[in-house]
Amino acid sequence: MSDNIIKVTVTDREGKDHELDAPTDMGMNMMELCKAAELPVEGTCGGMAMCASCHMYIQSDHTLNDLSDDEEDMLDQAFFVEENSRLGCQIHLSHEIDGLKVRLAPINND
Ligand code: FES
Repeated sequence: MSDNIIKVTVTDREGKDHELDAPTDMGMNMMELCKAAELPVEGTCGGMAMCASCHMYIQSDHTLNDLSDDEEDMLDQAFFVEENSRLGCQIHLSHEIDGLKVRLAPINND
């Protein structure tokens, strides 16, 4: 069973690290994992790459799946975008990202 669990670390907006056990066999993504851990990630669009509420920065040097056109378009419109910005809902939990470190992007309060 533990073969299907990876560890990821999420830094919240207060700078606190949360080490999470992430299942790789449930078809989940980083947005859903953060929500399940009650971290402040809204996931407003339900993971369709249409809201950017799951915007996060990749802090470790993992190679992730490429950005889809939808994700790229959404990040074009998002605030506080950096080189290492990704949408959490587009990062699928898999063994390739074991040890991943991410930081939640700030919320735009306009
Ligand atoms: S949940 Fe909306 S873009 Fe990721």
